[in-house]
Amino acid sequence: MNNDVRNLVYAILYKDSKTIKAYTKVLLLNDNTSKDSAFVKSALTYLEEHENTLKEVPHDVKGLITCEDLRDSFLVNRHYFRKDEEYIVNKVVTLHKVAQKLEDKKIHFTNSLMLHGESGTGKTTLGRYIAYKLNLPFIYLNFSNVISSYLGSTQKNIQKVFDYIRDIDCVLMLDEVDAIGLRRGTEDVGEMSRVVIGLMQCLDNLPNNVTIIGATNRIDMIDTALLRRFTLKQEVKRPSSREERYKYVSTFLDDIQFNYNKDALLKYCEQDKTQAEIINDMIISLAEYMATLV
Ligand SMILES: Nc1ncnc2c1ncn2[C@@H]1O[C@H](COP(=O)(O)OP(=O)(O)OP(=O)(O)O)[C@@H](O)[C@H]1O
Ligand SMILES: [Mg+2]
Repeated sequence: MNNDVRNLVYAILYKDSKTIKAYTKVLLLNDNTSKDSAFVKSALTYLEEHENTLKEVPHDVKGLITCEDLRDSFLVNRHYFRKDEEYIVNKVVTLHKVAQKLEDKKIHFTNSLMLHGESGTGKTTLGRYIAYKLNLPFIYLNFSNVISSYLGSTQKNIQKVFDYIRDIDCVLMLDEVDAIGLRRGTEDVGEMSRVVIGLMQCLDNLPNNVTIIGATNRIDMIDTALLRRFTLKQEVKRPSSREERYKYVSTFLDDIQFNYNKDALLKYCEQDKTQAEIINDMIISLAEYMATLV
């Protein structure tokens, strides 16, 4: 038995899926025999294709998070992202590569971005877009859901999620982070402070392969020490002009190849609205139009 096989056995015993994959790859690449060449080729292809496939979500974590492979389900051509949004997304993508390089040098770095801004401006959508661009699984944790009526188990639930994701290359979205802050002063302050501290410890112990996207529409409610854990911060705003509002609708309608009256659409776009309102209005109009055809 050589060292690679020994390491693989240890990885299996310790149930460390990342290392299992790494040593399986090493063993396959080291096999140059012609009798195994077809097997090696197909196994390497399988490994590559399933690199980011999620392992089975443990029973006690299932209700806390949702996991999505966005490669086919995120309809990128239906979305319009502004220049500042594309810029921050590219920055996160670059920092993901940097985080991997730092990991090789055993330097801890968490690639993290806090998105903030009013409701319906596309924070969650931007988080999904980042996972799509990184070609990584999107793991979604909503703090409003995780804060159970039993405050005492909130911290345990957060810990369970972080234990599960730590050996998956993924984007973990921590949505509605303010749900932790909002309870301050109204509930058991001590307990919630412990939850915030617990979350900060989870973030500090994360391996570099997890990208964290936080989102909130109450950045003022977020503990400053927690906020400091996020390397990047970006405000997500409602569209500022008629032309920008037009972009959201026209990008969608062009993608579904729907013929629309440009002047009528521009007229609608004179109203000040959020992304959520614009897309909702458009879908309702579309449904009304379709109803006339059936
Ligand atoms: N970049 C975009 N391109 C097209 N549509 C978008 C975009 N961003 C958001 N939308 C539309 O707006 C809706 C609301 O977006 P989203 O849920 O991401 O907002 P949010 O900021 O997370 O809101 P909340 O704070 O209420 O959770 C989406 O479901 C989508 O229809
Ligand atoms: Mg949201």
